Amino acid sequence: MSKVMRVGIIGGGLMGREAASAFGRWFVLNQFPVRAELVAVCDLQDSLLDWFRQIPGVRLLTRSHQELLACPDVDVVYVAVPHNLHESIYLDVLRAGKDLLAEKPFGIDLAAARRIHAAARESGRFVRCSSEFPFLPGPQRVVQFVKSGRLGKPLEVRSCFWHASDLDPSKPVNWKRQVRTCGEIGVMGDLGMHVVHLPFRLGWNPVRVYAQLQKIHAERPDGRGGMAPCDTWDNAMLHTDVVIDGMETPMRLETKRLAPGATNTWSIEVLGTDGGVRYSTAEPKTLWVFDRQKEQWWNRTELGFQAAFPTITGGIFEPGFPDCFLQMWAAYAAERAGELGDRFGCVTPDEAVRSHELFAAALESHRTRSAVSLA
Ligand SMILES: NC(=O)c1ccc[n+]([C@@H]2O[C@H](COP(=O)([O-])OP(=O)(O)OC[C@H]3O[C@@H](n4cnc5c(N)ncnc54)[C@H](O)[C@@H]3O)[C@@H](O)[C@H]2O)c1
Repeated sequence: MSKVMRVGIIGGGLMGREAASAFGRWFVLNQFPVRAELVAVCDLQDSLLDWFRQIPGVRLLTRSHQELLACPDVDVVYVAVPHNLHESIYLDVLRAGKDLLAEKPFGIDLAAARRIHAAARESGRFVRCSSEFPFLPGPQRVVQFVKSGRLGKPLEVRSCFWHASDLDPSKPVNWKRQVRTCGEIGVMGDLGMHVVHLPFRLGWNPVRVYAQLQKIHAERPDGRGGMAPCDTWDNAMLHTDVVIDGMETPMRLETKRLAPGATNTWSIEVLGTDGGVRYSTAEPKTLWVFDRQKEQWWNRTELGFQAAFPTITGGIFEPGFPDCFLQMWAAYAAERAGELGDRFGCVTPDEAVRSHELFAAALESHRTRSAVSLA
């Protein structure tokens, strides 16, 4: 490893600590050209800053993101804060001359995403947005299958990300359940980037959307003995049309907080007249491939640990969330260093803005109960 990427984290909550864990076992990457080092962390909560004290190499723990950004040791900043803070903190990162891995949804709404995109372009910094599931071996095989031309004529695409913990009405409210902090797009802001990353990268950009949005539990315990409004969209089904091989094809994008039985379940299915492919994180080693001659088969392949960036992990083992998150960071570091090659890359600012265009059109579609065209 020759190059070093020194990272600062702003927002040391769920995802900030997940990132720290990825850097902590960076050595799992085999002969990787960049070494990642976590050097600085910013959060408003002292208890979280204390958690980061156990990590060797972290030399700055601060409650001020400006102090972190003033630190000359930081090359790249990972920002994982509530959505209402994305724009101002991302812009501060760019103004400070740092590269950025931005958590999704890349701003609270379309207008914010466009301003961040413009600032990123003007700054010339390397900016990408987070979405890790495509970096699992299964989704990469889905991409290879589609590119192999074995689909025949396209029939339909379904890309989903489902959660279930919100089924429980006694689950306390948090910032992800309120429009002020999560955004009007609600669950689409939380889960939507995950379902569009792979389709967008395959060139499947919706030309039309009809959205069904649901709010299920209108209030939740506020953690202080009372109830608080819970005003974001909980479930969103976006029925879109995309053009695949010159044919208009239905693509359904599902983001759900109330999907019975699903715990962080990401899945994709692509069907054609000659072949099809299906993958779900509910079965992390399993790839289903459809084939037909006189008879028809769904063939089950038991995948191993063939990640895009080779690791020391045995090929027979199965991958999980921390692995794809680490692979996403490897893709970020490799692309930043000009070493991505033909591998799958992180969400670009263009793709992030496009996702917001889709979610804004979905809001309009639901408001007007009609299909909305996307230019
Ligand atoms: N990629 C994924 O799979 C994934 C999963 C969950 C969340 N996310 C995204 O990550 C981001 C954060 O979500 P989370 O689940 O980690 O939330 P979280 O609530 O667990 O953590 C957010 C942290 O930000 C800190 N914070 C708030 N304001 C701050 C400020 N001004 N300066 C510094 N720190 C501040 C909070 O104290 C908190 O610790 C969101 O954009 C969310 O959509 C991504």
